[in-house]
Amino acid sequence: MSQIKEISQFFEQTVQNFELPNEPKNLYQPLNYFFSLGGKRIRPLLTLLATDLFNIDYKKAIHGAMAIEFFHNFSLIHDDIMDEAPLRRKMPTVHQKWNNNIAILSGDVLLVKAYQELCKQEPRHLKTLIDLFNKTAIEVCEGQQMDMDFEKRNLVSIEEYIEMIRLKTSVLIGCSLQIGAIIADAGLKNQELIYQFGENLGIAFQIQDDLLDLFANPENFGKQVGGDIITDKKTILTLKAIELIGLNEYNRFKNENISLNNEEKVEKTKQFYAKVGVKKTVLELRNLYFQKAIESLNSIEVNETQKLPLFAIVEMLKEREV
Ligand code: IPE
Ligand code: IPE
Ligand code: MG
Ligand code: MG
Ligand code: MG
Repeated sequence: MSQIKEISQFFEQTVQNFELPNEPKNLYQPLNYFFSLGGKRIRPLLTLLATDLFNIDYKKAIHGAMAIEFFHNFSLIHDDIMDEAPLRRKMPTVHQKWNNNIAILSGDVLLVKAYQELCKQEPRHLKTLIDLFNKTAIEVCEGQQMDMDFEKRNLVSIEEYIEMIRLKTSVLIGCSLQIGAIIADAGLKNQELIYQFGENLGIAFQIQDDLLDLFANPENFGKQVGGDIITDKKTILTLKAIELIGLNEYNRFKNENISLNNEEKVEKTKQFYAKVGVKKTVLELRNLYFQKAIESLNSIEVNETQKLPLFAIVEMLKEREV
């Protein structure tokens, strides 16, 4: 779809033209490095598409879109420390290439840069934008803490898991869209609906992320395959496996593998999950949230043809493999 392509190119140009100071090198080089690796840029694309949805020039939302991508990249740099992840976007993570302290501080400065960008939007929108951004940023931290707390627990309910991923992932996707709608001066009802669309889309997105973590093709995935198994994350794969075979059987399987090295553990778990049919039930849950997202998009009160790019994004995300 040409609209998506045009907007993506416009955003990529803007990111690549964004200049950071040269010194101190160890503060800014990691950020230049991280931005040069790309990523899907899905969240800023959603911001710009949301502005476009309400018939306003998407370029008006560029600073909001930049703020969102900066915040997202900040959260990834810190997430990779917390998850001890070696790879991101097919390259070493910032803390791996430099060190933890550098990754913490360059992440911090990027968070402030996100606010600087947001504050470049029109003053009449700022109070609303910053309130939403603050609420979202706090919720992401809450979700990230829950994600880490769950590593230490044996059992987490599906409801708790959904709430955790709503906070760590989907509120930012909802916020990306609502920022675009606010800048377009959309009414409150439509703002709420587009946020809901993002929330449901984000839950489906994180379920897909959990699936890919174990089942992606390592050649093009760009992250360490099986990282969630190594860190004992309570992903939807684990929770569905427990639901399918029972906690006793699951614990027996885990105890059998306790002395294996990481690579063997990941391979064994992958085979085991495949055998008990985890993939199918996880895909069903994922599709349910894609469906909910589509319903929210359907109820937004704008001309149907205006919605086509967002429907196309839903389809793209269903097929994504990275
Ligand atoms: C990764 O987000 C973090 C999650 C919420 C799963 P993306 O998959 O959008 O990462 P990039 O920006 O494309 O690398
Ligand atoms: C990340 O979830 C959510 C945030 C960065 C806030 P994950 O830890 O699953 O993301 P990846 O898999 O590292 O991209
Ligand atoms: Mg991670
Ligand atoms: Mg994480
Ligand atoms: Mg993940």
